[in-house]
This record gives sequence, structure tokens and C-alpha cells, in this order.
Amino acid sequence: MKMCGIAGYTGKRKAGELLLKSIRNLEYRGYDSVGMCTLSGQGIEVRKGKGKVSEAAPELEFSSLPGTTGIAHTRWGTHGVPSEKNAHPHLSPSGKIAIAHNGIIENYLQLKEELRGADFRSDTDSEVIAHLLEKNYSGSLRDAMLKTMKMLNGTYAVCAICADSGKIVVARNGSPLAIGLGVGENFIGSDVSAFVEHTKKVVYLEDFEIAVLGEDSVEVFDREGRQVSPEVKKIDWSVECAQKQGYKHFMLKEIHEQPRVVRESVSAPFDFEMETRPERIFVVACGTAAYAGLTGKYILEKQAGIPVEVAPASEFRYSNPVIGEKDLFVAISQSGETADTLAALRLAKQKGAKTLGIINVRESTIAREVDSVVYTAAGPEIGVASTKAFLSQLVALYRLSSKLSGKELPLSSLPGKIEQVLLRSKSIRETAKKYFRVYNFLYMGRNFNFPVAMEGALKLKEISYIHAEGYASGEMKHGPLALVCDEVPTVAISPRDSVYPKMVSNIQEILARNGKVLAVATEGDREISGQATDVFEVPETEEELYPFLTVVPLQLFAYHVADLRDCDVDKPRNLAKSVTVE
Ligand code: G6P
Repeated sequence: MKMCGIAGYTGKRKAGELLLKSIRNLEYRGYDSVGMCTLSGQGIEVRKGKGKVSEAAPELEFSSLPGTTGIAHTRWGTHGVPSEKNAHPHLSPSGKIAIAHNGIIENYLQLKEELRGADFRSDTDSEVIAHLLEKNYSGSLRDAMLKTMKMLNGTYAVCAICADSGKIVVARNGSPLAIGLGVGENFIGSDVSAFVEHTKKVVYLEDFEIAVLGEDSVEVFDREGRQVSPEVKKIDWSVECAQKQGYKHFMLKEIHEQPRVVRESVSAPFDFEMETRPERIFVVACGTAAYAGLTGKYILEKQAGIPVEVAPASEFRYSNPVIGEKDLFVAISQSGETADTLAALRLAKQKGAKTLGIINVRESTIAREVDSVVYTAAGPEIGVASTKAFLSQLVALYRLSSKLSGKELPLSSLPGKIEQVLLRSKSIRETAKKYFRVYNFLYMGRNFNFPVAMEGALKLKEISYIHAEGYASGEMKHGPLALVCDEVPTVAISPRDSVYPKMVSNIQEILARNGKVLAVATEGDREISGQATDVFEVPETEEELYPFLTVVPLQLFAYHVADLRDCDVDKPRNLAKSVTVE
């Protein structure tokens, strides 16, 4: 299994109703199928099906499941197509034990082989865990879990119940798992959004730890079965943070949160010190975070004069990178879970580099493994397409640059300017109405706005399924210009900065080939508005700060186009929020 959401509850309330809410909150993690099981006098009852929670829930009537203990799962599968049989929870052969799993069991084929003769009902790697638990069970689900854990290779967060007891047993290795501590009830979640409305007290399991949850007790054990006392942490955000608050989609809400996010990120603690100045900086990340990293290269090289290499994590890990003790490795990740970024980090550590994480989710795996961590102040980001996390990552990189160079930029002027861009959301929607039926888009930018072109194109393709590519404007002549015609519009990010005259020439090259140009321009720029087909204006700012402003109309444009195309903006097809496998 890939990126899935796991929830669990044991207490006095009806588990079905509670867990339905929990998996709705976790659905951003995966949404190809869904399932739940609860425990009652009749044993374990499982209901599961294909599709999103909203599609499957009415028929499956999760709320009517009997009992006050249960587990639930929302899936984004890697092994086995989305179907009822492949959805979790999975039952052991006798039906006595049920499990929900997030992660990948790498040796599942070998384990299946060893369980020769067993009747597997699904095509998943996860079902093998249910079989092993039953095989290893002799009266204690905890002991069975300890034994089973030693047989599994790969990553997992497993949540199990057994018909013989009302307790939930969970285990973790490499996939996130949080335990919410209530009064007379306890909760499980892949992240705290599963239970934040019920409790603010949380325990994060360490790798190879297991926990046994009763309604009045939570006991944690290490891999040898020795009890350990876990640290209880306080969740520092409220339920509202993970709700839409009147917006049609999380993505729109998150775009509108950006002034606050930037304001808070500018003043958030920045705990990073290096005794000696790094010789080189490697910035490694995936997706949107990698484009934040690319923007970081421009500011770090300009201000601090330190050479910066930016690589997608999936490339870095296999490229024999030349990195060592004198270098700084910066991992950027919203979720702190992305498998490639984590693998790249481990490689950099092995090679002796000093490591820094720019991470949004507290206590996530990457946050725990880096030498120093700077937490971004984005709050929970639910929309699969990353928006506010991007801006918060930019702030962190600019602050890193200030730290290393001693040079400051007026970051605190940004929230007000971003607010001004947001006020234009309606007119951006009007422009989107002209373009939402187009099949292909080009995006181009230079210097600080080259990464913004890449990010703008990524936003559009992710959520509207329109083919869009971002280029460095100077590269247009080397290929992409061949695509330009009246059916392939180009978004040109062309604020009044030092490369502005070059952008104006690039825009003319597009127009001369019958291409339409949607320009992101500085307010009041008559030259651009006189030429471009459509203009998205942003307030004037310092050259280095434009990415904070120019990306915002592109997020809004992608959003409105996707919404006009009736796409499921927050849960785009084939994608998931955190990619915990390669
Ligand atoms: C997925 C998400 C993207 C995100 C990327 C990196 O592809 O859909 O929005 O940018 O992963 O995720 P991370 O959590 O490491 O920032």
C-alpha cells in the first residue's frame, strides 16, 4: 500500500460514526477505496468498497456498524487495483483478527510462499500481516504483533483488532502513526487530523514500537516487548485549521491563507546554526517543494555567494552525488514523509554532510532524522496541490539566505501585497473562463521567476489535467516555440525586474507566432498590458521577492480552470498528498 490514511477508536462512543469523520479528514492521503471494521458481541464486522469516502459511505453505512472499538482505512494502492477485495481492513483466515496497513511489505511474496496453502482473498501485500498475526497468535495480540514485526521487511503503520479483546494494537516502522489520548477513549490516526477535534494530547510512535490501546490505557513497548514511557505532546493547531471554513475547496482556502502563513513564517523560530560556512549547499525535494528549492538557489547564490545545487530527490539518490562534510544538505518537504526525499537525506548523512530539514509536519520522519529542522508555519495543508506550503518554504529559504549572508530583505512587506493579489481572484476566474477548454499551455519565466513558471505549470496539470510545461524563457527558442499557435497559450511571468526587457522580447516572439499571452506583470505596466492577451497584475516589490507574488495568480488560475472543468480540485486523479514509496 502506498499513501493511506489509518484511523482507530476505542472508547464508549459508537466507533462507526467517529471513524467515518476521521477517514474523511485523512482522505487527502489516498482515496481509491475505503473500509472500516468494528468489534461487537458478534465479532468483527467489516465493510469496504471502491471509491472515495463520499462515494462508498452511503451504501456501506459505516455509521451503523455496531460497537465502540474499530479501525478504518482510506487507500491509495500500489498492489492490487482499487476494489472491494483489495480495500482494507483485511481479515485473518478465521476472521478473528483485522488489520489496516499503510506502507509496503517488501517481502510479502516470500511470506505468502511460507504461508503456503493459505487462502488469500486480495492482491495486496498487506493481507499477509493479518495471516501472520493469526499464525503468531496464542492469546495476546500484542505478542503476536511483536513476533510478526520481526518477520516484516518494508515500511508499515499497522492497526489491528482481535475479536478476543476490545483492544487495538498498533505498530510502526517508517510510516507515520499518531495516538490521541482522550478521557475514557483513545484514538489512532495516520496524522492528528483524524482526532484533533476530540483531543489535543498526542503520542507519536517511534519506529519498531508497538502500542496497546484500551479505552482507559495506552501502553507503548519497544521491539523486545519492554514497556517504554512515551512523550506526550500537545497539538498546536485547532480543528478549524483542517476544515474548509466556507471555501468550496481546501485549495482555495489554503491559497487565501497565504498572507497569514507568510506573516507567521517570517517571525517563526529559525533554529539553525552552522559553525563554519558551508562550501556548497544541496537542496533536494520533490514536486512543489523542489521548485521552492530552485527559487532558493537564486537567492542563496545571489545573497550568500554559496554554490547551490538543486536536485529532485529521486535523481539525487541514484546519481552518486559528490557531497561531503563541508556541505550543507537541505531537504524540503511539506509532509516530511516523501520516500525519495528521505532516501536522499539518508545518503547525504552517510556521506557526512550537515543536514537541515525545511518541514511542515511536526514529528514527521524527515524532521526526526535531520541534524536541524526549521518548521514551516503553513499549518495543515489538505489540498493535494501544494500552495501555502510553497510560500512558507520560500520564506524559510530566504531566511536561511539572510542567516548565511547577513543581508535582509523586507519579507514583512509581503503579506499585504499577497492580499492585494488575492483580491483579484474574481477577475482571474473571468480569465479562466476564456481558457478552461484549452488542451495545452506553456509557462515561461526568467531568473527568480523561472521556478515560478515550473510551479505554475505543475499546478495547472495537477488539478485541471491540462497539459502544461514550464520553461526558462531563453529556452523557448530551442524547442517549445514550435508548439506556439493560437491554440497553445503561453503564461509569461514578466514583472518589472532586471530581466524584464528580455521577457518583453520573448512575449513578442510568442505574439508574432499567433500565440496568446497571459502575462503576470507589475501593476500599472502599460507596456505589457498593451501587448498581452490577458494580464494578471501583482504589486511592485524587490526583484528577489517577486516569486512570492507572481506564483499566487498562477495558483488561482489553475484553481479556477480546474473548478470550471469540474475537476475534483482537492483530490486530483492518480495523485496523493504524500508519496511514501518510490
Ligand atoms: C506530492 C504532492 C505534491 C508535493 C510533493 C512533495 O507529489 O502531491 O503537492 O509537492 O508530493 O511532497 P512533500 O510532502 O515532500 O513536500
